[in-house]
Amino acid sequence: LSILVTGAAGFVGSNFVRALISQGLEVIGVDNLSLGKKSNLDAVIDSKAFMFEELDLSDFLAVEAFFETIGRDRKVDEIWHFAANSDIQNGVADWNVDFNDTFLTTFNLVQCAERLSIARFFFSSSSAVYGDHGYEQLHEGSGPLLPISNYGAMKLASEAVIAAASEKFLSAAVIFRFPNVIGLPATHGVIFDLIQRLKGNRSELHVLGNGTQQKIYLHVDDLISAMLFVSEHSHNKLEVFNIGPEDDGVSVSFIASEVVSVVAPTASIVFGCQNKGWIGDVPRFRFRIDKLKNLGWSANASSSAAIRKAVREIAGASGMDNG
Ligand SMILES: NC(=O)c1ccc[n+]([C@@H]2O[C@H](COP(=O)([O-])OP(=O)(O)OC[C@H]3O[C@@H](n4cnc5c(N)ncnc54)[C@H](O)[C@@H]3O)[C@@H](O)[C@H]2O)c1
Repeated sequence: LSILVTGAAGFVGSNFVRALISQGLEVIGVDNLSLGKKSNLDAVIDSKAFMFEELDLSDFLAVEAFFETIGRDRKVDEIWHFAANSDIQNGVADWNVDFNDTFLTTFNLVQCAERLSIARFFFSSSSAVYGDHGYEQLHEGSGPLLPISNYGAMKLASEAVIAAASEKFLSAAVIFRFPNVIGLPATHGVIFDLIQRLKGNRSELHVLGNGTQQKIYLHVDDLISAMLFVSEHSHNKLEVFNIGPEDDGVSVSFIASEVVSVVAPTASIVFGCQNKGWIGDVPRFRFRIDKLKNLGWSANASSSAAIRKAVREIAGASGMDNG
């Protein structure tokens, strides 16, 4: 099998590429390196089975030319599309960010996939497509889907384009709705952000929001295992899967105290006043994963276990794990 992975230099993409290469698959990784780093691919960059291309997937002509080139000497079997803007706040500040990096990247890829008859398309969508449903436990059919961020809006638009493509030419289209995913190499996210804050001030940790926001968290190792499991076991033309641990999530104050206990045990934690960290932040979120469970997969780590593991990993990688 030959597999095209977009966003390959990012957090999830680089973990996924490593997993594919270790299974002996041939991988083409694409990234414009706007958020990802080439060094995230150090473990595979010299492998004969891996090829990397720096490319802006929002530029249709560039994507078209790239597909023409790769189509000449190989048959690509699958596309795993992870490239996107992953910084929700950036997309709140500038309307164009999610349109270009999340929606257009998908729109361009789908069109080029059709030209090369690449019939299997896997997409990293997000719990953000649901919008704010309070503490309702959401399943894949829940709605109305009314995202509260451009990020979520452009993920939802991407899902819609993939659904339309599955009607036209895809034989397998899988839309994964991720919760917050954590682990290394962290490029963003709550743990990374809290550790960065403590780097600047070791005695006080200022937290966005009042700490009560409660969400589920998935360790990246579990995410990769779930996606590979689905690609093997799901045989429908178009599928949507929530991926997550089966619990009610943990609060930001739990995460803040885990970070403080590992990084700076004497620091005090100062909370903000609102129940949201920023515009576009869904304050409480959990979803059902029955569909994935019925297929035969469940997560190894609960939200709290995933947080504990990732705090230690990220603190270790930033040299901040010794108080
Ligand atoms: N990490 C999470 O918690 C989470 C949650 C829900 C969904 N997701 C989705 O999973 C995917 C991977 O997220 P991540 O956490 O690894 O983020 P990331 O920022 O580490 O990776 C995304 C990668 O896409 C690349 N990219 C962005 N715009 C591009 C463009 N125009 N052309 C080519 N490459 C481009 C970036 O350089 C980056 O390497 C994203 O689609 C994200 O929206 C992530």
